[in-house]
Amino acid sequence: MNDFIQISKAQAAPPCTVVIFGASGDLARRKLIPALYNLHACGQEIAPRDYAVLGFARRAMAVEEFRESAREAAARFSRLELNHDRWREFSARLDYLAGLDQPDGFHKLKTRLEQLEAARGLPPNRIYYLSVPPEAVPECAERLAEAGLVARPGAANFTRLVVEKPIGTDLESALKIDGALRQYFDESQIFRIDHYLGKETVQNLMVLRFANSIFERMWGARNVDHVQITVAESEGVGTRAMYYDPAGALRDMVQNHMLQLLALIAMDPPVSLDADAIRDAKINVLRALRPLPPGGANALVVRARYGAGMVDGETARAYAQEQGIPAASRTETFVALKAYIDNWRWSGVPFYLRTGKRMPARGSIICVQFKDVPRILFNRERKLPPNALTIRIQPDEGFSFEVLAKQPGLDIAIRPVRMNLRYESEFSGPSPDAYERLLLDVMIGDHTLFVSSTFVEKSWEFVQSILDQWSANPEIPLYEYAAGSYGPEAAERLIAQDGRVWLNP
Ligand SMILES: NC(=O)c1ccc[n+]([C@@H]2O[C@H](COP(=O)([O-])OP(=O)(O)OC[C@H]3O[C@@H](n4cnc5c(N)ncnc54)[C@H](OP(=O)(O)O)[C@@H]3O)[C@@H](O)[C@H]2O)c1
Repeated sequence: MNDFIQISKAQAAPPCTVVIFGASGDLARRKLIPALYNLHACGQEIAPRDYAVLGFARRAMAVEEFRESAREAAARFSRLELNHDRWREFSARLDYLAGLDQPDGFHKLKTRLEQLEAARGLPPNRIYYLSVPPEAVPECAERLAEAGLVARPGAANFTRLVVEKPIGTDLESALKIDGALRQYFDESQIFRIDHYLGKETVQNLMVLRFANSIFERMWGARNVDHVQITVAESEGVGTRAMYYDPAGALRDMVQNHMLQLLALIAMDPPVSLDADAIRDAKINVLRALRPLPPGGANALVVRARYGAGMVDGETARAYAQEQGIPAASRTETFVALKAYIDNWRWSGVPFYLRTGKRMPARGSIICVQFKDVPRILFNRERKLPPNALTIRIQPDEGFSFEVLAKQPGLDIAIRPVRMNLRYESEFSGPSPDAYERLLLDVMIGDHTLFVSSTFVEKSWEFVQSILDQWSANPEIPLYEYAAGSYGPEAAERLIAQDGRVWLNP
């Protein structure tokens, strides 16, 4: 069947200028420039009719040098092969300005923007993408406002601010940073990125749930036994010790990506597809998260870090031996936890969350396990495995639904079979990268896939309650697991004591 329903949002991307703060950095090179090029190359119908990209950073660089380094980055990291003509058109839109750290840098930025807009006939619709270290973010917001570079919300031409994770290192600092941003920008002008939300499968979660009546009617405590979310990385800390060690898995993965996935899988149907309605529905999940009881960081949460082991057939050293890790480090590279959502839909249903580095393979899955078959008919011996819906976020995006079927033959032999959808084989053409979608949404002004201020606050409140118990009770174990395993024994016990097992990606 070829019929499909298209809800297009392409029509409205208006002409604008994207200013990349920190344009010489890693994120700009690996993600932002390739994403902007792909938007340009893959369809005039979706990219804005006209736009410019202005790189803004500290180091001096000629415009031609910036274009050349952008070309190298796009050639290396773009999902589309570089096309000579498309690149030439795109490259002509690239400009560069140094002086991000200079006293008059933001006034120079204003002048350059005005010149650029006049030369290209662009309206002053401006997107400031802050791809700079987190500590530089509040100052950039302040200096933009001081330089008169922030339009009023609702003005004829828009100003939008894009902020990357992490927002804060704890609840207090997150509130402080968010407060600083909101001193100069209205919430409607702020786009907080969690790139997980730009992934195809994450968005498909909503389609799966709300466009198929079969699932939504089953979605809740009456039919679901439990839900598991696993985000596994096979990589270790690599060269990112300076960033990772002060953070750890709880801050780096749970506070943002995993709680976003939890909210999407558990939210009630939003009243509409409006960004506000969807964000409200997600926040209600966090509001209903059961607060961590005293002792909960020990009983309901497991933390661990990887020891030496084997990953992908190669020896991997222990976290403590990685380059740049301080000898006294007690940072966790693994967290498993059990949470409850105390609302009518999910009352009594456990949600198990697990994330770690140096696991056997990279993979993010959500598994919704349905209740056992009653102990009658085929299940008198209580051996039938329950139905399970597994959503694969990455890699091999898709989902599978496990049901039981009779194996052909004279006996009644029952075995689980998988109804499996693989995006790659079902749909032609590669999916856009998360950053392509997110950048386009900023241009359009659609907040649906961005993190709201309240979500930042509520997610940090939950994570902070764990951090507080960890720091008040240093005797709470920091377990060790072998690199190349799915975590410590203690994580297996966390779920096994409820009579369940982890499902690995
Ligand atoms: N890289 C990733 O995959 C990734 C993923 C998720 C989130 N993020 C977030 O994205 C942001 C950028 O990350 P990145 O990896 O691109 O960082 P990066 O490679 O260190 O680049 C930082 C950029 O910001 C500029 N910069 C450095 N220190 C600055 C300061 N004190 N004040 C103003 N500008 C400064 C640098 O300019 P000069 O080189 O000209 O000095 C450089 O262009 C960070 O907030 C990071 O947490 C990155």
